[in-house]
Amino acid sequence: MQYVKLGSTGLDVSRICLGCMTYGVPDRGPHEWTLDEEASRPLIRQALEAGITFFDTANVYSDGTSEEIVGRALRDFARRDEIVLATKVHGRMRPGPNGGGLSRKAIMTEIDHSLRRLGTDYVDLYQIHRWDPHTPIEETMEALHDVVKAGKARYIGASSMYAWQFAKAQYTAQLGGWTRFVSMQNHYNLLYREEEREMLPLCADQRVGVLPWSPLARGRLTRDWGTATGRSTTDEFGSRLYPDSDRVIVEAVSRIAEERGVPRAQVALAWLLHQDTVTAPIVGASKPGHLQDAVAALELRLTDKEIEQLEQPYTPHAVSGH
Ligand SMILES: NC(=O)c1ccc[n+]([C@@H]2O[C@H](COP(=O)([O-])OP(=O)(O)OC[C@H]3O[C@@H](n4cnc5c(N)ncnc54)[C@H](OP(=O)(O)O)[C@@H]3O)[C@@H](O)[C@H]2O)c1
Repeated sequence: MQYVKLGSTGLDVSRICLGCMTYGVPDRGPHEWTLDEEASRPLIRQALEAGITFFDTANVYSDGTSEEIVGRALRDFARRDEIVLATKVHGRMRPGPNGGGLSRKAIMTEIDHSLRRLGTDYVDLYQIHRWDPHTPIEETMEALHDVVKAGKARYIGASSMYAWQFAKAQYTAQLGGWTRFVSMQNHYNLLYREEEREMLPLCADQRVGVLPWSPLARGRLTRDWGTATGRSTTDEFGSRLYPDSDRVIVEAVSRIAEERGVPRAQVALAWLLHQDTVTAPIVGASKPGHLQDAVAALELRLTDKEIEQLEQPYTPHAVSGH
């Protein structure tokens, strides 16, 4: 495993982050395709054995049960001090007033619920899952700063939003003397590269760590276009992200993988790992081979010509995944 600093911080993270949206009670929340606790634990253990120390979950994943499963597994298999544990806040956890969003009340309530479910007294990275247009950013940034000062989070990060929103949040924090975000968790893979226009240059300039979500386009980059899996048939959010015109990129990945004699997932992840802006892709693993491919991708050096072949078919996409 390789380890790098997260953005401008002194925090070491493994170059592969394990996405824990895959682990959760299937009939809790909208992700029917998740693995239950018994099926999840061996994968979390395998990740640790491969040297992965960076784990990403969210309060909203499978109605809090992802945090519970991940928290128990990490308590059983890992040493807390060596692990970088990230979770998120914003999604709706309860119907009715104050059930979601980034108000001071929501943040203060949700960090305590997340810590209880994770079974720890702090998270390493507390991320806002989306922008909240209904709460002043001053209120959000001060509340996040107070979470850090209370010792409940070591660092704060953000996730999918427009670059102007992220820049506004960062300068608001600076003006208030509050903690700034150290990372951006955004939608970035060979099929969706809109982040290269504004967000990635902003992160590079400000030395913000970049943690791409769905680095394999939720599995689409790993198999022939249109091939269905248990997940793809019930992944409602994923079904809206990638148009049929993306098929040609999947075919380019397939050609290079065949020439190299490696699985397609390794080629698609290696491309992301070649991007200077990327700190650690957040991979989803539902089978042991998925983790093996993610780790192997760290060693796969693509040539300039291969990178060009992978990038050339891209056409601009409507902004999605915010
Ligand atoms: N911040 C956000 O808004 C946001 C949004 C989405 C995700 N995330 C984070 O990002 C993480 C990863 O998301 P994701 O699961 O969509 O990522 P992904 O890595 O793009 O997709 C994972 C899926 O790809 C397939 N796959 C993975 N490795 C493979 C391999 N080696 N060979 C063949 N197929 C392979 C599997 O599909 P099958 O299971 O169908 O076989 C797996 O479930 C999440 O767990 C979460 O932590 C964050």
